Amino acid sequence: MIITIANQKGGVGKTTTVVNLATALASIDKKVLVIDMDPQYNSSMSFNSYEPKLSIYRVFSNEIKIEDTIQESQIPNLNIISACEDLAAAEYELADDENRNFLLKNYINNIKNDYEYIFIDTPPTLGLLTVSSLTASGEVLIPVQCEFFALEGLSKLIKTIELVKKNLNISLKLNGIILTMYDKRNSLSSLIEKEAREYFDTNVYKFNVPRNVTLSEAPSHGLPAIIYDLKCSGSQAYIALAKEFLERSNLNGSK
Ligand SMILES: Nc1ncnc2c1ncn2[C@@H]1O[C@H](COP(=O)(O)OP(=O)(O)O)[C@@H](O)[C@H]1O
Ligand SMILES: [Mg+2]
Repeated sequence: MIITIANQKGGVGKTTTVVNLATALASIDKKVLVIDMDPQYNSSMSFNSYEPKLSIYRVFSNEIKIEDTIQESQIPNLNIISACEDLAAAEYELADDENRNFLLKNYINNIKNDYEYIFIDTPPTLGLLTVSSLTASGEVLIPVQCEFFALEGLSKLIKTIELVKKNLNISLKLNGIILTMYDKRNSLSSLIEKEAREYFDTNVYKFNVPRNVTLSEAPSHGLPAIIYDLKCSGSQAYIALAKEFLERSNLNGSK
């Protein structure tokens, strides 16, 4: 199953969600691949796997086969394909390629049978990198930060997902919305939660991710929070979310 994590807002918890959900699933023996499609390569760094020579960009530029870009992470069952800054150039280098939205999907076809779950981390844009990730995926998962303008951009994202569904990938499904950086001392968090649940109903995950400083410290150690400090509230939240993720992906019946 291939899942894109998307939100065109930066800093909402996309990368943190990819890294920790992927780690949680790998730790219960699922075979997992993370593909970093963000030119800022934060998820590559979070696994200490930043490797520009093996970046997914080198596949787009026909320098290397996708099979040869796969790196083992320090976590058993979890492999990663790194991003690099050059990936930003793919947006315009591929602009004239009629097949551009399907390139990633076609590459992933060569490796997808080796994994139970492939997570694709995306940049904070709705350009080619995100659209081709959505085109390659069975499901999309949306992290939403509990802050004032959080829901504003969401309708644009949902519209983009609908467009991709209509024009490029009829089988794309919404896996769900995860509320991140939830601060129970801040009434705004509960307000955003209430609005999100009213509007998006059961599409919103039951568990929220609390604001937790360990989640933000772990990447500087090149480790997912779940490995760095399993007991912290952020790690525990992502473990609960991973269980819910499995329930939802079973319900959706996505391949
Ligand atoms: N629940 C959380 N609590 C505290 N800090 C968080 C949390 N989730 C993410 N962060 C931090 O917030 C910043 C943005 O998160 P990130 O996952 O990189 O977002 P995105 O990938 O959407 O840009 C990072 O510094 C990250 O470590
Ligand atoms: Mg990110």
